[in-house]
Amino acid sequence: MDKLVIDGGRPLSGTVEVSGAKNAVLPAMAAALLSSAPVRLSNVPALRDVETMARILRNLGARVDLGQGTAEVDSGGLSKWEAPYDLVRTMRASVMVLGPLVARMKRARVSLPGGCAIGTRPIDVHLSGLAAMGARVGMSDGYVEVETGGLHGAAIQLKVPSVTGTENLMMAATLAEGATVISNAAREPEVADLAALLNSMGARVSGAGTDTITIEGVSSLGGASHGVVPDRIEAGTYLVLSLLTGNGLEVRGARAEHLAALASRVAEAGGALLPVAGGMRTSLGGGKLKSVDVVTQPYPGFPTDLQAQWMAAMAVARGSAVIREAIFENRFQHASELARMGADITVKGDTAVVRGVEALKGAPVMVSDLRAGASLVLAALIAGGRTEINRIYHLDRGYESLVPKLKAVGAAIERVPS
Ligand code: EPU
Repeated sequence: MDKLVIDGGRPLSGTVEVSGAKNAVLPAMAAALLSSAPVRLSNVPALRDVETMARILRNLGARVDLGQGTAEVDSGGLSKWEAPYDLVRTMRASVMVLGPLVARMKRARVSLPGGCAIGTRPIDVHLSGLAAMGARVGMSDGYVEVETGGLHGAAIQLKVPSVTGTENLMMAATLAEGATVISNAAREPEVADLAALLNSMGARVSGAGTDTITIEGVSSLGGASHGVVPDRIEAGTYLVLSLLTGNGLEVRGARAEHLAALASRVAEAGGALLPVAGGMRTSLGGGKLKSVDVVTQPYPGFPTDLQAQWMAAMAVARGSAVIREAIFENRFQHASELARMGADITVKGDTAVVRGVEALKGAPVMVSDLRAGASLVLAALIAGGRTEINRIYHLDRGYESLVPKLKAVGAAIERVPS
């Protein structure tokens, strides 16, 4: 197991390139199960989760070739309908093979993903939607088993706007008989990106990106080529870093329209996210951010996937910020690690109060989940002295080339065996 060793306090400047979005490429790979023709993806980040999805698809009989920034998935030879526990337990997004398998194979057996470090994360939205489309849903031995004589369109009102739930049902509906309308759908850009891919495969999806998505079922889908949307969470992470380290970073690939909630909090804090040709940069009057409260919400609200990074920023802001995590029930594990570095944070239930301190100090810390890892990297880069970050395999799941990208802009960061 490797760890990161970071000497904080260096001024950072230069260009950081945003990779393709983890949370867009994973459903895109699953969508390839819907067709017997190859789906070619570009702007594919080299991430552990992409490799895991490739293993799941290969295990189902698909051919998956991962290249430099590309993935080709050919599901012509799809022969199985089971995603086993050993693969699913390492990545909850594996559940996204469920919709495509039921649509194409008329059955699926997928290990229940179980809870994870950030919460219990049920999949009832996925299952009740499939049931509304005419699937029989059962459970046995920790697996969800779904079967159908053929899916039909349905009006589905989601209990919560689940991102992967919306994606699963949208994929299943592409091959259903008749029209499906998903209301209270997730509006995340990754949902819209998936719809664009499905439409280029021949599906008839409209309204993705709004809370009502309509899918007219078709009898089969073909192949397609698709470029994965840039990762707005990675972009947001580097923009927060830029604000904390002298505004020297140009984050290429960051899209202002995907980062409006972050931009408005940054503006309240006395800074700005500024669009520049091909990306964004930051500015900050007065040297230090002011403390600003946030509540996480489904898109277009403030993303839960940037909550931990915002907490790192608030740890050294002027004043006191209240951060409420309204999406996941246990997503504050970075708070106690930030406290080890001198942050003043009190957590009570779903709320954290962060009182800004003058400076953070390096310390040994441990990563509990992907975005917690990102917040610790930000904290370490602004702290005085050396920070050792352990359990960085979480970061490998979602930040492509983290160390080289940060080194290239002047960070003192090394990955070493622990
Ligand atoms: N929920 C239910 N029932 C369901 C599904 C969800 O009650 O059937 C609840 C969850 O418990 C949670 C809320 O709905 O309180 C939202 O969960 P959602 O289903 O939207 O999350 P997800 O689809 O499992 C995706 C991202 C997460 C991101 C969340 C929220 C992917 C592969 N994952 O998860 O990404 O935090 O949406 O935006 O798209 C990450 O990248 O670090 C990450 C965790």
